[in-house]
Amino acid sequence: MTRSSQIIAGNWKMNLTLSQGREFVATLKSYLEKGSVSRRVLLAPNFTLLAELAGLCAGSGIMLAAQNCAPQESGAFTGETSVAMLKDAGASHVLVGHSERRQIFGEDDSLLCAKLGAVARAGLVPILCVGETLEQRREGRALEIVISQLQADLVEFTEGELIVAYEPVWAIGTGQTATPADASDMHAGIREFLLERFAFGREIPILYGGSAKPDNAAELLAQPEINGLLVGGASLRPETFWQIITA
Ligand code: 13P
Repeated sequence: MTRSSQIIAGNWKMNLTLSQGREFVATLKSYLEKGSVSRRVLLAPNFTLLAELAGLCAGSGIMLAAQNCAPQESGAFTGETSVAMLKDAGASHVLVGHSERRQIFGEDDSLLCAKLGAVARAGLVPILCVGETLEQRREGRALEIVISQLQADLVEFTEGELIVAYEPVWAIGTGQTATPADASDMHAGIREFLLERFAFGREIPILYGGSAKPDNAAELLAQPEINGLLVGGASLRPETFWQIITA
């Protein structure tokens, strides 16, 4: 497995309790022990599961991401969780700007830029999520929107590891997946931006997310610029998640 291996990431969102998470990881580890897998596996559980799952995942190759973080380093921010705390709990990656954060919690690009900076300064890997709404796609503005999100959120980012996740809002949790051709076109546009913006633009994995499932994973993963998947609903059961990992 190399740094360029495809990444299969599961975003559990606000699902799975600690005992369910433990059971999930035990099952996933048993699958991983049986078969050899060329893809990298990452889970993004809730904060309350991170430390415990980090212990269970140690040595298994399973990486852990937090789903969110505070932009501040520490202090009087009741209810917030700093990047240092996430790192201490065992996360190596942090999702930044998931569309649910943008849309439901009103997170704007300047906040996301600050969060991304906090993650990078702590030496963790940001997974920057971008994507257009259905209305924006119908208006023919999908690429423009995605590039403007990347520009704004990465304005202060100059070096370090980074992952981008393209998640069209209309495909998330709807069962309506982007066609491999549409996803591929968008990923090519994102790659072009990354190559222009960073000397290391070729090294940045671009994941696709939005109703990725066992029956569409292989076709999506066969597209040249799709370097992995960010899976929501289908990552909640180890059986279906494993089918995607091995698709
Ligand atoms: P679904 O796979 O449930 O559509 O969710 C995608 C997602 O939002 C992953 O971050």
